[in-house]
Amino acid sequence: MTKFSSVDPDLDRRRFVHAALGVTVGVSGLSFLTIIGSARPVTRETPDRLPPTSGDVLVHAEGDQTGMPVDPGTLTPQPTRAYPQGVVAGQPVVKSGDPDNLLLISRFPVAALRPPTDLQAAPEGIVVYSAACQHLGCPVGWKNQDETYLCPCHSGNYDPKRGCTVIGGPPPRPLPQLPVTLRGGQLIATATFLTPPYGVSDQDFDTYIRRSEMTEKP
Ligand code: FES
Repeated sequence: MTKFSSVDPDLDRRRFVHAALGVTVGVSGLSFLTIIGSARPVTRETPDRLPPTSGDVLVHAEGDQTGMPVDPGTLTPQPTRAYPQGVVAGQPVVKSGDPDNLLLISRFPVAALRPPTDLQAAPEGIVVYSAACQHLGCPVGWKNQDETYLCPCHSGNYDPKRGCTVIGGPPPRPLPQLPVTLRGGQLIATATFLTPPYGVSDQDFDTYIRRSEMTEKP
């Protein structure tokens, strides 16, 4: 009996090829993951992503008046879509870069509004809320039959006359109210949202408020 075991040259060649392929696949996989990683969008702070804040003017988000200040006299229960416009680095900026900043503005008879609506923040029956659904962030729409806000994605239902309390569907909390005042025939925010908008936790809300203060005051 020899001390050398017999070696199958084909077997060794197959092992080598498999090992080489393993390395190749590993490197390729790593490269692929690197590419995917570098392709992931990076969220950067830009002026149009800043939260609404005191002094922002509410401007139309759509239609032939896009970018024009909302005239409070034209408002009805059916919401008008708007964005806050502030001044950043000396330039007016429409803050349309964050879906949380899409706003719904409704006007009801003053007597129709009930807590937990912040009535001090709702002049002449005008209430303003973020349109981003608190469930998964879809933009909320209008349900004419009972004058409520309805999310088209999973039927989240909010009552804008009662602080956008959830009255149906899966949203875990109300849409946040934006406090506003009337000045010079325009709607002006007096602070940022009163409660965290979609995607902002209670713990992160202080940071969110500090970001809102990066907008210049008029
Ligand atoms: S995203 Fe609005 S109910 Fe699901």
